[in-house]
Amino acid sequence: MFDRLQDQPADKILALMQAFKADPREDKIDLGVGVYRNAEGVTPVMRAVKEAERRLVETQETKAYTGLAGDPAFADAMIGLILGETVARDRIAAIATPGGTGACRQGFELARLANPDATVWCSDPTWPNHLSILKFMGMPTRTYRYFDEATALVDFDGMIADLEGVASGDIVLLHGCCHNPTGANLTDEQVGRVIAILTERGAVPMIDLAYQGFGDGLEADAAATRAIASAMPECLIAASCSKNFGVYRERTGLLMAISADASDTPTTQGNLNFLNRQTYSFPPDHGARVVTMILTDPDLRADWEAELEEVRSSMLDLRDQLAGELARLTNSDRYAFIARHRGMFSRLGLPSEVVERIRADHGVYMVGDSRMNIAGLNSETVPKLAQAIVAAEKA
Ligand code: LMR
Repeated sequence: MFDRLQDQPADKILALMQAFKADPREDKIDLGVGVYRNAEGVTPVMRAVKEAERRLVETQETKAYTGLAGDPAFADAMIGLILGETVARDRIAAIATPGGTGACRQGFELARLANPDATVWCSDPTWPNHLSILKFMGMPTRTYRYFDEATALVDFDGMIADLEGVASGDIVLLHGCCHNPTGANLTDEQVGRVIAILTERGAVPMIDLAYQGFGDGLEADAAATRAIASAMPECLIAASCSKNFGVYRERTGLLMAISADASDTPTTQGNLNFLNRQTYSFPPDHGARVVTMILTDPDLRADWEAELEEVRSSMLDLRDQLAGELARLTNSDRYAFIARHRGMFSRLGLPSEVVERIRADHGVYMVGDSRMNIAGLNSETVPKLAQAIVAAEKA
């Protein structure tokens, strides 16, 4: 039977990772997959994570199963981090999931269980795996305009015009902060207008929050999610700890489903538990337990927040350096948006041939849509990238 299988389309981000590995050039630069790297090119285990793991090894007495939803303390700690006190706890059902991808998948599954006709609206562009998972599940999708290629900022008029077409019960997938792949984000006022339209249309927002703490800080990066979740009757939130805790391979995420009325929460929770049981039974626990220890221990939490802040400000410095270097080389403010974008990514708005020349001639790898991971740079490689961009554009 396996001889009947067809090749699957390659994930463009993961394919780029492979191509980078295979490139023998010593001065190659990886700006592809969204993994934070420090100035030495290392993705470090964060100090608080190391310490929490040490304590866990010393004190953990069992590895027997947790509940289907994972450790309830993990959900409580994450809900506090993401929503603060903005939504009543008894309206929130939550499950631990394998990473943010698992949270997205279970969120789509829950939406489909609740409304098999729901269309999922994604920003154009969005993280490619959103669309890939939805296609694999056979869920209907539509896109709304999001990015203005000319300014490299949000095409807000286009977004609003498209969201006017959303039907009652549809799911509108939004990025909580640090939009992937563009780096262009909504202002608070724009978030308010999106809330008004979704309310008017009777749509359900689903927020993918994978980069809290990577943009303007932990609180600021949660602001849009809090505004939406507190204003709307129902909301799904898919959160990832991969980036902000640096626990990529531990697969640590949380899906929240906020019901309009607390009386619906037990059934929503039961459906989430059911989905976990059908997929993998119990979600991974190690990363979740480490995150819980960090969030609930004042010293560990302070150290984690301090290190996350170092990570965030190093990315902002690199943004400023790159925007400055490109302004100098092009004698224009054409690339000023790089300093305005937030998070790990910026979409540069370069044609795919230019991206390809940058890779072939200069060994700099970015995703074909010209998304670059700013954390793949350091102060020595910034000038090299700026020169490569300018040279490839002229060629
Ligand atoms: C990315 O967008 O590069 C990351 O979210 C990693 C991934 O799984 O694609």
